[in-house]
Amino acid sequence: MSNLELANEIDRRRIFGIISHPDAGKTTLTEKLLLHGGAIREAGTVSAQKNTKYAKSDWMEIEKKRGISVTSSVMQFEYDGKVISIMDTPGHNDFGEDTYRVLTSVDSAVMVIDAAKGIEMQTKKLFQVCKLRGIPIFTFINKLDRQAKDPLELIEELETVLGMNATATTWPIGSGLQFEGIYDILENEVQLYRKKEIIKLSEAGVFGSELEGLLHPDNLRELRDNMELLSGAGNEFDLKLIREGNLTPVFFGTALADFGVTTFLNHFLDMAPGPSVRKTTDGEVSPYGDTFTGFIFKIQANMNQAHRDRIAFLRICSGVFERGMEVTLSRTGKKMKLSQSTQLMANDRETIDKAYAGDVIGIYDSGNYQIGDTLVAGKEKIFFEPLPTFPPELFIRVMPVNSMKAKHFHKGVDQLAQEGAIQVYKTQYNEIILGAVGALQFEVFEYRLKNEYNSDIIVEPLDYSVARWIKIDNNENLSKYHNSRSMLVYDHFDRPLMLFANQYTLDRFAEKYEELKFVNALDVNREFGMGI
Ligand code: G4P
Repeated sequence: MSNLELANEIDRRRIFGIISHPDAGKTTLTEKLLLHGGAIREAGTVSAQKNTKYAKSDWMEIEKKRGISVTSSVMQFEYDGKVISIMDTPGHNDFGEDTYRVLTSVDSAVMVIDAAKGIEMQTKKLFQVCKLRGIPIFTFINKLDRQAKDPLELIEELETVLGMNATATTWPIGSGLQFEGIYDILENEVQLYRKKEIIKLSEAGVFGSELEGLLHPDNLRELRDNMELLSGAGNEFDLKLIREGNLTPVFFGTALADFGVTTFLNHFLDMAPGPSVRKTTDGEVSPYGDTFTGFIFKIQANMNQAHRDRIAFLRICSGVFERGMEVTLSRTGKKMKLSQSTQLMANDRETIDKAYAGDVIGIYDSGNYQIGDTLVAGKEKIFFEPLPTFPPELFIRVMPVNSMKAKHFHKGVDQLAQEGAIQVYKTQYNEIILGAVGALQFEVFEYRLKNEYNSDIIVEPLDYSVARWIKIDNNENLSKYHNSRSMLVYDHFDRPLMLFANQYTLDRFAEKYEELKFVNALDVNREFGMGI
């Protein structure tokens, strides 16, 4: 393959994650996007999980039982010459660290907002992770077929609640029963909702005569007023700012009716960046580099009960992957042969022979990989920027019911901890404490320990919600800081941290012990000298 051909392959790749609060319409939008790419034959299949080759992830029993997607999956499809990978993230209330971490593998994010509700809590949390990484964010305001908030108010919310400048790309014409369509500002055309017609406008835009008699007079007046306001006070379209993650283009539509989705997809593909340059501990890796490199951002055990295997999800950062190639695992220096690789389409897997920077592939793992591992072709070792640890907010103490089975228990705890969906800590008495971002992770943990490791556990919820790593100048024994309102534990690198009931207890504690330095989860690797 020539360099030009390789560059073309890389340039046509787009990886993005969809973030939203539950029920905003993430699944419905994903489904419609897949439908446009021909990846599924008919709508309804992503959530229905039935009769389809490409149904959403349902590889774990618990997912089937509860009818929800616990783990994130990847869906790849081709559209308009582009190879698009959607990183799916769980859309229910209890999401986990896994959800956050998937966002480290994407080059852009799509934020789905319910037009009647505006920005909700979970969107805010996920948004912060994207912002932290400078990922470009595209906003799709959904459910315009229902009564919606004033679009200007929604734009203002993006700016005030999220602190993100927004630029309108399309604009709704009415909402709910009065919803008549959208105005595509960039293309200067109106798309009618019911008539499915596209009206190209003259230079005068919405102020010309084409729309008169076509739209309800109230809707037309409001559209004109809004456009006037936006041209005076709105943010101008600026591709550079969008790609830097400092301006979000906003689109309106209804995913359910598949209206505004194609417009969104076309503009998104024009604006969204391709595979980005990735930082390493001592430089950068360009996607066009000759050497194959990639990092593992997720490990999923036992995706297929019949095989009891583990799959490591690898984001390719540069070069070409070829099945059977030999790579070096930088952490251990060990040579690995990548002979079993799959392209991932939820729980459906196809063996792939070739993949490029900007693709996500699954590789079989017999226990060699850890989250954050870098794989490199050749001998040179490269370490990508460590993946951030996200602050757990829930904690439990766990122990095996049957102490004779402690070995199973510890094996299970170690392996599930490696997947990174939960944090495992030990107290000074070697008790196991688990920390997670969402409660569902504990439920999944308990279920899997029982089913996959044959270990029943006793779970004791703990009344802590804030964790801080502790740095202290001298190597003093920290056990004197342990008291009834805070708990001292150690993470798997043996770094000490304290758990507190809430921010108030933490503040009081910090006032009392001024000699201690408290480190937030997101800064822990840097503060403890483990990478950037
Ligand atoms: P999520 O993945 O973000 O959690 O949301 P999901 O797509 O599952 O959508 C949540 C509910 O909102 C679903 O209804 C879905 O049909 C509905 N919905 C999504 N987009 C639109 C839209 O543009 N307009 C309207 N009116 N509704 C929309 P449900 O009743 O909870 O589920 P279902 O029985 O329809 O599947």
